[in-house]
Amino acid sequence: MSDHELVNYSLPSTHSGPFVMVIFGATGDLAVNKLFPALFSMYKNKLLPQRFYVVGFSRRNWGDDDFRKFLHDKHIMSKSNKKEFIDPYLSDQKIEEDEEKLWAMFVENIYYQHGIFDEPFGYEALIKKLVGFDEEIGACITRIFYLATPPDNYLSILTNLDSSKLSEGCGQGSDKWTRIAIEKPFGRDLDTAKMLDQKLGQIFSEKQVFRIDHYLGKETIQNMLAFRFANSIFEPLWNSEYIDHIQITFAEKEGIKTRGKFFEGTGIMRDVAQNHILQMLAAVAMEQPRSFTKEEVRDARANAIKSIRCIEPSDVKKSVIRGQYKTYLSEQDVAADSMTETFVAMKLMLENERFANVPFYIRAGKKMPQEMMEISVVFKQTCHILFKEYGCPEIGNVLTFRIQPDEGIKMRVITKKPGMKLALETVDMKFNYIDHVEHRIVDAYEKVLLDILSGDQMLFNRSDELESSWQLITNILKGWEDESVPLYVYDDSTWGPMEANELIEKDGRKWL
Ligand code: BG6
Repeated sequence: MSDHELVNYSLPSTHSGPFVMVIFGATGDLAVNKLFPALFSMYKNKLLPQRFYVVGFSRRNWGDDDFRKFLHDKHIMSKSNKKEFIDPYLSDQKIEEDEEKLWAMFVENIYYQHGIFDEPFGYEALIKKLVGFDEEIGACITRIFYLATPPDNYLSILTNLDSSKLSEGCGQGSDKWTRIAIEKPFGRDLDTAKMLDQKLGQIFSEKQVFRIDHYLGKETIQNMLAFRFANSIFEPLWNSEYIDHIQITFAEKEGIKTRGKFFEGTGIMRDVAQNHILQMLAAVAMEQPRSFTKEEVRDARANAIKSIRCIEPSDVKKSVIRGQYKTYLSEQDVAADSMTETFVAMKLMLENERFANVPFYIRAGKKMPQEMMEISVVFKQTCHILFKEYGCPEIGNVLTFRIQPDEGIKMRVITKKPGMKLALETVDMKFNYIDHVEHRIVDAYEKVLLDILSGDQMLFNRSDELESSWQLITNILKGWEDESVPLYVYDDSTWGPMEANELIEKDGRKWL
């Protein structure tokens, strides 16, 4: 069947039409631990169309069955989210059997393409495969190219998608049929991010580009917009008159596991601070968007990031602390003299009226004592005006958004202790998703994939957002080129080096 005989079958605004997704880096950590489990859980929950094609593109010389077996052996089933509605009378054994049956049906949609990212042969074979899918459906199917490789491969893949004309999709010469999804980190610094964006711009139009930061797809991050702007009681307090400071913690219990190759030379600053952390900051600091539409929400996010005061490289020592966990040097694929940071703490200030003089204290680290991703808004203390002698706590009202684990929102308030005498104590008013949500919480990668399928870019980065975040981070990275800036070693399972405490304590405050 020639191209012009194929009927129009581009994805409509819902994701009900068939699609093909080519995942570059299909045997890597991201694909195995996040993308395939998310796809399987979408399949189980009937969020995928009846017919779809997922093609893993990778360097191993395999066929479809080898790849399907590889995925099965990687326990994708157990990594996926549970089915929303399970018959309560089913035994565990029956549930497991059902999962296996669903898996067998799911993998019929999974294919494999052997290829080397910078050599044309894999792309040429891929064209044939994709044409075969179009013919099977009898239509031009929307093609999504998902770059889940280490970032060094992005330029080669884009170049080959361009030269093979895969980027133009089925009805070649048209941009209707393709979308490109790119994982973070988007570049290594400001210059490389700009270069990558330029390359993307030469090949794709902006509406085809999905720059991923899966933290934007986290349920609790999305909820912050609703929480802040749908309730009238918080906005009047959301400013420097009432807020003392804000803390953002991104603590992971695990180290880098087997991701040494990726993490070395990337470091926590590029891995999570430039993206996830700054998006968490944007969620708490953004102004109310003029409307709940893609560009207005992206404008509000971008403006929040733009308003962060740049730290001059010569000031980095004062405002940014970097650390490395003690056993990092003995991790797989890590250089014996590695200077890669696994922890960072920093103090950021925003240059706008709302947050004038309100510091944002941020810390992100691997090998911390516990898993904890949260944002806390610490309000100014007024207890002492009336109750100085009755035991005012050191910190009064704190509003905490817990991203994970135990997703929820908590408000700490001061109350009178029950009893005859007047004494004060703090109590937490809590909302935990688990207690109130009837349906399962959709995993961030499911949300990311669903939005790519339906072409909704609201929860994806725009270039200007990325440029501002890289401007900030690149200055810090430049400051670290000065060898006199220390890299502090911290014990595994601790909250990072002592110097991170000093960063906040010298302002008379404490990490929560
Ligand atoms: C990824 C980082 O983007 O986010 C990882 O590369 C990090 O280093 C991960 O562990 C955390 O994501 P999540 O969804 O597991 O909290």
